Amino acid sequence: MIKQIQKTVSFLKERNFEAPEIGIILGTGLGQLTEHLSVEEEISYNHIPNFPTATVEFHKGKLLYGELEGKKVVVMQGRFHLYEGYDLRDVTYPVRVMGMLGIKKLLVSNAAGAINLEFKKGDLMLIEDHINLQGGSPLGFHGVEQFGERFVDMSEPYDLEMRTKLLEIAAANGIQLNQGVYASVFGPQLETKAEYRMLKIIGADAVGMSTVPEVIVANQLKIPVVAVSVLTDECDPDNLAPIDVSEIIAVAGKAEPKMITIFKALIKAL
Ligand code: HPA
Repeated sequence: MIKQIQKTVSFLKERNFEAPEIGIILGTGLGQLTEHLSVEEEISYNHIPNFPTATVEFHKGKLLYGELEGKKVVVMQGRFHLYEGYDLRDVTYPVRVMGMLGIKKLLVSNAAGAINLEFKKGDLMLIEDHINLQGGSPLGFHGVEQFGERFVDMSEPYDLEMRTKLLEIAAANGIQLNQGVYASVFGPQLETKAEYRMLKIIGADAVGMSTVPEVIVANQLKIPVVAVSVLTDECDPDNLAPIDVSEIIAVAGKAEPKMITIFKALIKAL
């Protein structure tokens, strides 16, 4: 796999993806951050050698390079999910690519359902910790030790310094930033009432279908990472309203300006 990644990276370097300091992954319905970027390069995933190919239509599926708040950044607009038929190596391939491009920090976003009912639809949640329920690990493959340790420590997977900074930034901007545990599931079906009950019992505050594999790989690569969920629906098992994915995307889009504000301020402060 290392050779494949090297090929992808040399292609991107030829296309001027030079020395990005920060990598950013934008989740479902969360593409507007790119409007704040002075874009220097932009390539569809399906034009990048060895990249998994985007399939879900509402993901624009592009890798961008440019400047944001005076920093060189590489941005994934849309990500790969297990539920699209990719495996955990595919899902985390771009993180390994960004790592080899030289990013020093990784900022991740996603849309998630609120399990903790004190949190409301449209709120943000800073991920403090996670529970991996995807049934596998991106480190469970041959050759993974070429990239770092196999038995990666996960005692503090989300960088404390960046988390503290995000909390300060949110407070200074009057943005409510909840904190909690994110559980990642395979999807793509949403959860049953019984599953939402279970998630609450095991200690999850939010649930989604991404992020955890990317964070595990960032930890293997020793890239400090933070992640923020935009809560798009309230998962009350005793009062569960049917939900449509278009609604999830619409709520994500509406709440996204708050996420953009705190991400931009964090990048400026780094
Ligand atoms: N469950 C899983 N993933 C999600 C949800 C949810 O309720 N909302 C947004 N992504």
